[in-house]
Amino acid sequence: METIKRAIIYDRSLNPERTNATFERLAEVLENVLNEQSAAHISKLLDLLEQPNPRNQLNEKQADKIIEYLDKIVLSRQQIQEIGEQLQLSEISTAEAIDIHQQFKIPVSHPEEDIIPVQGKGCWIKDTKGKWYLDMDSNYSATNLGMSNPEIALGLYNQANTLISMKEDRIQIARSRFLKEIHQMMPPGLDQFYWQNSGGEAVDKALKIAKAYTGTTQVIAFKGGFHGRTHGAVAVTWNKKYREPFGLDETGWVHFADFNDLNSVETLLKTTGAKIIILEMVQGEEAGNRPATPEFVNGLWTLAKQYDAVIIDDEVQAGFGRTAVKQGDWFACMSYDLVPDIMVIGKSFGGGYPVTAVVTKKKIGSKMKYGYDGSTFGGNPMAMTATLIATRQMREKDVTGNVVARAKQIKSGIRTLRETYSIIGTYSGRGLMFGFDLGSAENVQKVQSGLRENGVKVSLSSGSMIRFLPLTIMSKGETDFFLKQLEKSIKILDS
Ligand SMILES: Cc1ncc(COP(=O)(O)O)c(C=O)c1O
Repeated sequence: METIKRAIIYDRSLNPERTNATFERLAEVLENVLNEQSAAHISKLLDLLEQPNPRNQLNEKQADKIIEYLDKIVLSRQQIQEIGEQLQLSEISTAEAIDIHQQFKIPVSHPEEDIIPVQGKGCWIKDTKGKWYLDMDSNYSATNLGMSNPEIALGLYNQANTLISMKEDRIQIARSRFLKEIHQMMPPGLDQFYWQNSGGEAVDKALKIAKAYTGTTQVIAFKGGFHGRTHGAVAVTWNKKYREPFGLDETGWVHFADFNDLNSVETLLKTTGAKIIILEMVQGEEAGNRPATPEFVNGLWTLAKQYDAVIIDDEVQAGFGRTAVKQGDWFACMSYDLVPDIMVIGKSFGGGYPVTAVVTKKKIGSKMKYGYDGSTFGGNPMAMTATLIATRQMREKDVTGNVVARAKQIKSGIRTLRETYSIIGTYSGRGLMFGFDLGSAENVQKVQSGLRENGVKVSLSSGSMIRFLPLTIMSKGETDFFLKQLEKSIKILDS
C-alpha cells in the first residue's frame, strides 16, 4: 500500500519530474487492474472523498482515505503492485492527457491518441491502460537500443550532475570521448563532424556545407524523398503538401529527379548546372521503405564524378545498422560499398536522446569558415554522452548482425504468409526498414488496427504500403511474435 500512497502523493526528493495523482487517473488505474469489479469501488471512493474534482491533484488527507479504503477491500499482492506501478508511471488520466494536448498543443501533426506510452522495456512499450505492445516503429527508428536504456540513463544522470550543457564552439571532454571512439563505425574518409539536435537541422547544415564547398546553390533531390521539416529540409522533400503552404514549392534552387532513374538525374545535371545531389539510399517516410537499386547508386556516383557534383547521403533513418545487408554495414552506403561526400546521421545516433550530425571529408568541411554556422545545443555534453554509450552498445550488441538475421527471418515469414494470403503484395525494403503492399490505404489501416488489438504498435504509413521500423535489437522470439500477430491481423482482411 505504501507504493500506492507514494504514487498518489509524489516524493519530490525521488521524483521531481512528477505531480500528485488525480482522482480520474486513480479511477482509470482501478479500472485497468480490477476490470468490472472497479465500478463499485470507484463509486464508494467518490462518496468517501465527497465527490472531488476528478482532475485536481489529490492531497495527503484524501490519499490517506483512499489507502484506508483500499486496505479494507481484498486485493492480491499483484493487484496492489500493478495499481502502484501504473499510478507511478502516470498520475494523469488518458482522457485528461488527450484533452490538454488538444487544448494547448499547436496541431502540426495528426495526433496519435490510440496508444499513450508511459513505459518502455526492450522492444516493448506499456500504455496508460496497462497494455504492452511490441514496438514496430521505434519512434521512426530513433529508439533502437531499447525503449528505455539503463546505461544511457546512468550516463545522462552522471553528465547532468556534472555539466549539463556547453555551447557548440567550446571544446568539451564528453565530445572528445565520443570522437576518440566513433571512427571505427564511419565510412572511410568521413571523419569531420558537426552536431545538431534534429535530422532536419542536420540536413539544413549539410546543404550549407555543400553550398560552401561547391560555391553553388542548385540542388537535385528525389521524388519520393523525405528530409525533414526545417525550411531547407522541407525544400528538398518531395511531397508538395509539405512545401506549398510555406512558399517552398518553387524555391528556384531545388529540382526533383525520378528515383532509380539515372537519365532523369543526368538531364537535371545538364540543364540546371546543379553540383549538389541529396538522396536517401532507402527512401522511407514517403515511399514506403523503397531501396535504391545498386545500378542506380553506382551510376549516380559515376555521374556525380563526371559532373563534379557532391552527394549528400541522408542516413537519418537508414543509418546505424537499420539497413544492413552484411555484418558491419553501419550505414546504407556501406551496404552498397559506396562513400558519399557528405552524410547526415540522426535518430538512432543517441539511442533515443536527440542528437544528429553532418559528417564529411576534410577537404569539404574545411570550406566552412568561422561564422558560417553555430549552435547553442549542437553537440552538447548530454548528447555526446548519449551517442558515446549508444554507438558503443550498437557494436557490443552486434546490431548489424542482428539486423541481417531478423530481416531474413521476416522476409521468409512474409513470403510464407503470402502463399496463403493473396492480399499481401510487393515486399519492399532493406534490412529492418521494410514494408509491403496491401492494395489500399484502407487495408493498411485495417491491418494496423488489427495489429494494435493484437499487441503490436506500427509505423505511420502512406498509401497502400504498410511500413515497419522495428528496434534493431529485436530478438528471434519477438520476430516470431510479430509474424504471428501479423497473420491474425491479415486473416481478417482476406476472409
Ligand atoms: C531520411 C530523413 N531525413 C531527415 C529526417 C528529419 O529528422 P527529424 O525529424 O529528426 O528532424 C527524417 C525524419 O523522419 C528522415 O526520415
